[in-house]
Amino acid sequence: MAPVRMLIDCDPGLDDAIALLTAAHVADLVGITTVNGNVGIDHTTHNALAVAEVAALDVPVHRGAAEPLVNAPADAAYVHGPSGLGSVSIPDVTRTIASDDAVSFILDAARSIEDLQLVAVGPMTNIAAAVTADPGLRSRLGGFTLMGGAAVGGNVTASAEFNIWADPEAADIVFRMMAPLTMVGLDVTHQVLLGPEERDTMRAAATPAARLAADLLDYAVDRAGELRGTAGAPIHDACAVLAVTHPELFGGSDHPVAVELTGTHTRGMTVVDSRFAPDGDALVRVLRTVDAAAVIDLIVEACTTVGPPAP
Ligand code: BDR
Ligand code: CA
Repeated sequence: MAPVRMLIDCDPGLDDAIALLTAAHVADLVGITTVNGNVGIDHTTHNALAVAEVAALDVPVHRGAAEPLVNAPADAAYVHGPSGLGSVSIPDVTRTIASDDAVSFILDAARSIEDLQLVAVGPMTNIAAAVTADPGLRSRLGGFTLMGGAAVGGNVTASAEFNIWADPEAADIVFRMMAPLTMVGLDVTHQVLLGPEERDTMRAAATPAARLAADLLDYAVDRAGELRGTAGAPIHDACAVLAVTHPELFGGSDHPVAVELTGTHTRGMTVVDSRFAPDGDALVRVLRTVDAAAVIDLIVEACTTVGPPAP
């Protein structure tokens, strides 16, 4: 079967970088668009180019939004490090962006690539701008999947997950205009923890991509230990990629979902109406269960296989 053609909108970010490596192995990655999020747009764009270069990916990178629709930019450097890639430094990247118009690239790709799977793993700013410019965007896609939100709880606040919290107005537009969509939230991603064992396997593979993934994971595991008290780090964004290519590993149900925009304690919360699951198209598939061991194996396999061999 031909591989799924996938466009990833991202804010690398430790787990975004691992998601890109994963996607390059399990899918036909046709493009990367960047957005302000975990760190500023200069860093997220540089990091996307760096990952593509290290793994020798033949994939264009298009720079996107520098700030959220309404919020002031608020980063997650306390999780991902000041550059967004932990302690990894890739200063001599020779690749350059294909354009600084991520929105046009998304719209063009949706028109020209049949059955394109769009996967958003950063704040939803670019996707909201794209669907606002072309309300028919969703109808031209094979599918739309996002990493964001949660049916229960949050990570930045008690009720909000980072990607939604960082640009709630954009997320609101996306949940209203991009359904049907699949929401890969914290309910699932907090079950997929990679730790020292996976890091060691990656490091032993010794390919450029595997070494990069091991270094990213090292930092992520340390931060997760300090911030969450877990022995492994959630690699959120790779879960969204694999939910597209390996849907049999995930379980969920369809619900209306709204983004809270005004709550004093709940701005950026994804409000999942679990009272009923009506038939219909304009619903969100909320993933809740995952075969975590299988997903972890796929991430490790991807990171140790993709790109040039070990020197
Ligand atoms: C999400 O927020 C970011 O920090 C991660 O890259 C992921 O996309 C998890 O809440
Ligand atoms: Ca991300």
